[in-house]
Amino acid sequence: MKLGVVGKGGVGKTTVSALLARAFAARGRRVLAIDTDSNPNLGVSLGLDQQRTDTVPVLPRSLIVGSGGSGNSGGTATAADVVRDYGVATPSGVTLMSAIKVTDAGAGCTCAGHASVRSLLGEVMAEQAAVTLVDMEAGLEHLSRSGGTLAYADVLLVVMEPSRKSVITAARTQALAAELGIPLVFGVGNKARQDDEEFFSALCGEFDVPLLGVLPYDDTVSAADRAGVALGGVPRAVDALVDALEARSAVAS
Ligand SMILES: Nc1ncnc2c1ncn2[C@@H]1O[C@H](COP(=O)(O)OP(=O)(O)OP(=O)(O)O)[C@@H](O)[C@H]1O
Ligand SMILES: [Mg+2]
Repeated sequence: MKLGVVGKGGVGKTTVSALLARAFAARGRRVLAIDTDSNPNLGVSLGLDQQRTDTVPVLPRSLIVGSGGSGNSGGTATAADVVRDYGVATPSGVTLMSAIKVTDAGAGCTCAGHASVRSLLGEVMAEQAAVTLVDMEAGLEHLSRSGGTLAYADVLLVVMEPSRKSVITAARTQALAAELGIPLVFGVGNKARQDDEEFFSALCGEFDVPLLGVLPYDDTVSAADRAGVALGGVPRAVDALVDALEARSAVAS
């Protein structure tokens, strides 16, 4: 399964990515989590300390994986080469890869890094990981640039806060994903308090966004974030989300 996690800024993409990756790993799956944020911090949520997160090697910008690499300055790396050379084991059991990082002012756009991720997702990854999960930077540009970073994803999860704007973003994302031919797109409600679950159901109904599940606002999530550590365990609601994901992707395939 190749999963892209997208959504508006600050809705919880990195938190949800890390929790899903950890929940899959806890079920014994080999999980590769790819951080495509130009300001990467998925490593902390997977149990690395900040210093180790900051030294995770970043994919070279010219790298194109598979046949698309022939004659390209990036050469012809295979998916196995890339996972071996750039994958970092984390205490959560999830292998982390950092695809894009902006370290110098004026270093140019990150399109080449997105093309690397696109080419990697285009490869058969079954021997490297049962689940490949991509934590995206906020916004919709990754669905439009150079053929779409996530063009070869099987499932797109659009994380939403309990706000009308984030549900509308999910609806727009769904339309772009359909153009790219991504077979499954689901909304995931996050930071839900009181009657927010009903809010998500109603708005997703109104905008035709299939709602996979809703995660509650959780003080331990924000406390872990403030302390710069991973959550102690995976909340039960995340397990329910993985169950729903497995059931609905099995029905579709
Ligand atoms: N379920 C939750 N309960 C409480 N706080 C949460 C929850 N999910 C995320 N947060 C908090 O919301 C903030 C943003 O979360 P996160 O970094 O995961 O969002 P993001 O969508 O990846 O942000 P960005 O757009 O910057 O990449 C963090 O402080 C995080 O701890
Ligand atoms: Mg993030």
